[in-house]
Order: sequence, then C-alpha cells, then structure tokens
Amino acid sequence: MPIKVAVVGGAGRVGSNAAFALQCGGVVREIALVDVAHDVAQGEALDLLHGSSIAADQRIVAAELGQVADADVVCITAGSRRKPDESRLDLINRNVSIFKGILDGLRDGGLSRDAILFVVSNPVDVLTRLALEHLDWNPQRVIGLGTVLDTARFRSMIADAKGLPPTQVKALILGEHGDTMSPIWSSATAAGISLNELLTPTEQQAIFERTKGSGAEVIRRKGGAGYAVGLSILEVIHSIALDRRQVLPVSTRMDGPYGLRQVCLSIPTVVGRAGVLGYHEVALWPKEQAGLKRSEQALEQTYAQLG
Ligand SMILES: NC(=O)c1ccc[n+]([C@@H]2O[C@H](COP(=O)([O-])OP(=O)(O)OC[C@H]3O[C@@H](n4cnc5c(N)ncnc54)[C@H](O)[C@@H]3O)[C@@H](O)[C@H]2O)c1
Repeated sequence: MPIKVAVVGGAGRVGSNAAFALQCGGVVREIALVDVAHDVAQGEALDLLHGSSIAADQRIVAAELGQVADADVVCITAGSRRKPDESRLDLINRNVSIFKGILDGLRDGGLSRDAILFVVSNPVDVLTRLALEHLDWNPQRVIGLGTVLDTARFRSMIADAKGLPPTQVKALILGEHGDTMSPIWSSATAAGISLNELLTPTEQQAIFERTKGSGAEVIRRKGGAGYAVGLSILEVIHSIALDRRQVLPVSTRMDGPYGLRQVCLSIPTVVGRAGVLGYHEVALWPKEQAGLKRSEQALEQTYAQLG
C-alpha cells in the first residue's frame, strides 16, 4: 500500500532536499512538510506541488506536528546549527531538547504506534536511541540514517578516484555517524572485483580520510549537505515503502550482533515495510570489529553525558 511520509524540519536544507528526492522518486503517496518555520514549509510545499503535474501523482502539503498522526514514516530532520563558542556537547543538548519537544508533539498528536520513526538530525545515533527510549517505541520501528550517507560518499569517492562506475562499487562504512566510523575494506568490491586488488593501502586510507572529512567540506563550501543526503533518505524510505528488504547501514538498537548492546549504530540491516527485519552479521577483519567497539564506547559515553 502506498505510504505517507511526514518530514519534520521540512523547511530546512536536508528536509526540503529529501522531499524533492521523494517527489522525483514518485513512490510515496503523500509528503507532508512540518516545520516551526511554517511559512517556509508552505512555500516549499507549494514549489513542490507546482512540479507534481510533471513528476508524480502525489499529495504534497505543509502541516502542523499535530496533523501527521496517520503518517507511515516520520522523517525527522529538524535541528539547530552550532553557535559561535558553543561546545559540541552544548549543541547536542540543545538539539536533544528540540528533539524531545518534537517527540512529545508527535505523541500528543496521536501518532500511530505503527509509524516508523526515521531519524536524520544529528547526532543521529544518539537521537535514534533517544527516540525509542523517550517514546518507548518498538525498536523495530525506529531507524536512524546512520552511515547510509557516509557509505554513499565512500562508494562515489572510490569510483571517482579510480574511474569506476559508481553504482558498481560496493563498500560499506559502519559504526557511528561521526569520528569513530569504520571503512569496511574486507568485503569491498567493484563489479565483483575486490577493492583490495584495485587499491593500495595508501589509496584506501586517502579515500577514507576524504570521505570522513566530506561532511565538513560541504558545510564549509556550501553551508550544508543537501542532494546526497536527500538521496540517502530516499533509499531508506523506498526500501520501507516497497518492502524491498534492502540491506542498508542504518542506525538501529543493538541487541547482540557483533557483541554490541544498548547503543544505536550502523551494521548491515534489512529494511522493509515493518521497519528493521534483521541483520547480516557479515565476517569482519579484527580491526573492523574493533572499530565497531570503539563506536559503541563513544556513543555510550555521549549518551551518559546528556543533560
Ligand atoms: N544523518 C546525516 O547523515 C545528516 C546529514 C546532513 C545533515 N544532518 C542533520 O540534519 C539536521 C538538519 O540540517 P539542515 O542543514 O537541514 O539544517 P537547517 O537549519 O537548514 O534546517 C533545520 C530545520 O529544522 C527546523 N526546526 C527547528 N526546530 C524545529 C522544531 N522544533 N520543529 C520543527 N522544525 C524545527 C528549522 O526551522 C529548520 O527549517 C541537522 O541536525 C544536521 O546535522 C544529518
């Protein structure tokens, strides 16, 4: 059945780019843009609506938080940027308080317990865990974007560096969407050929460093990520909408795979209409496993520090 997606933060850069990607994708039935900047959300919705006669038969509206109780997926991209002189933890705590307000608004508006909460706002792994604990939501129905964007960037950068077709590069980034993310070279391939044959360790290191610094580079050059994060959001929502059961590095609650517990972080996860359907605990090199443990520790530490 076609689904309705509410984008909370829909007037912002990430939210509006996600909405445009979903319009071009033409799969979901309805896109509702929710934002405290309601006027801007109405403008974005109107602009998208104008293209609907070319793109797809979808309903596109601006809405209040209390009007999306029937959404099948609530994609939360609302956030706040760092102020001058503000510490990372202060920013996290400010975003946490915005985020809790949104969660309370969704609950008070009567959001269906069948809805899938799809968290994009940063720190995404921390907020994904907060969403499921604050609302006591079914962990199967809470998904964070995790390292989906990092993985997309990584594949595209590998292809760009070696002149390979980007869609034939298969390589993952797992763990935290942040400093402790790990590149997974053990299973990385291009058109079925191991990337350990195609790339030297020095080339691998350089590509990973460029990928890791890419978010900051985009912020420095154009203010923030937009198109690629919009497409990353589309990939996850289409896997849900079409029950494609794609294996994606989304952030979800760990309950034992790779010995990980409690935190939300990214491992290969099966995503379908019911949300998280399972994991693929693929074999990793010891240093890749150690990377996941480092992410677990870092995320546990941040979570414990929340105000
Ligand atoms: N997970 C990822 O891979 C990834 C990638 C890029 C950006 N992000 C995160 O996405 C978030 C949004 O980034 P952006 O560049 O779109 O920022 P932005 O400032 O352009 O947009 C944020 C939007 O949130 C809205 N907002 C703030 N408080 C709100 C509330 N209480 N209810 C509804 N809307 C509210 C603002 O009005 C604004 O329109 C940030 O947290 C950013 O770090 C995550």
